[in-house]
Amino acid sequence: MKIILLGAPGAGKGTVAKMLTKLDGSVQISTGDILRGAVQAGTELGKEADGYMKRGDLVPDSLIMGIMEKRLQESDCQQGFLLDGFPRTIPQAEELNQLLAKLGIKLDMVVNIDVPRDVIFDRLCTRRTCENAKCQAIYNVKSNPPQQEGICDKCGSPVVQRADETQEAIAHRLDTYNQKTAPLAGFYEKEGLLKTITGTSSDLVVSGIQKALGK
Ligand code: AP5
Ligand code: MG
Ligand code: ZN
Repeated sequence: MKIILLGAPGAGKGTVAKMLTKLDGSVQISTGDILRGAVQAGTELGKEADGYMKRGDLVPDSLIMGIMEKRLQESDCQQGFLLDGFPRTIPQAEELNQLLAKLGIKLDMVVNIDVPRDVIFDRLCTRRTCENAKCQAIYNVKSNPPQQEGICDKCGSPVVQRADETQEAIAHRLDTYNQKTAPLAGFYEKEGLLKTITGTSSDLVVSGIQKALGK
């Protein structure tokens, strides 16, 4: 499947993407995970992105498009991909359309995961993430804790709060989302690709996607 996952911070994009990869071998491409990996590795990209991310601002479109142009041409994308956290602005969506046309790729669907704001705030304050850049498994102290506190079930690395999980950064990320990313729903509705799924169950989001794809 070739899908874009839209949704506010904490809507469950990463959680749903990881569930979908198990269905048909499509890969999760999370620009947030790629950027966090670059920050941890101390690369030029990471140094440039770090300040924006800590504040809860978007990193510049040009940085993101450079990453995605390369990533979408890697061989593991042929089976399908789940874009998690990209595109995030109208210019990114317009450039993605050009890139997909150039590569001869057609999207199946754009899924807007719609979760109430109070649920989102609570989820972000209680999320924990595996700090191993290659893993970045997602946990939640309330809904999905690791078996051993503070240790990733999958790779044994420490499970921590992300650098953008302060109260200020969370509030700023939600504002940034409303201003810059929410308009993408209208953009993809016009293209006839949008499917909005409202609710707090990731299982229902996954089954809604399967049904819409006719699988
Ligand atoms: P990014 O990493 O994309 O963060 P985000 O959009 O803020 O989204 P999150 O990862 O916080 O939430 P999620 O929807 O994945 O939810 P999750 O599944 O973890 O981006 C980070 C930063 O990178 C940006 O601020 C920006 O600076 C930069 N960036 C990234 N992409 C960019 C781009 N394209 N352009 C410019 N800048 C970019 O779930 C949240 C929690 O809830 C977890 O604890 C989970 O366990 C729990 N949970 C999930 N589902 C459920 C459920 N059904 N029931 C109960 N708990 C649940
Ligand atoms: Mg995520
Ligand atoms: Zn891990």
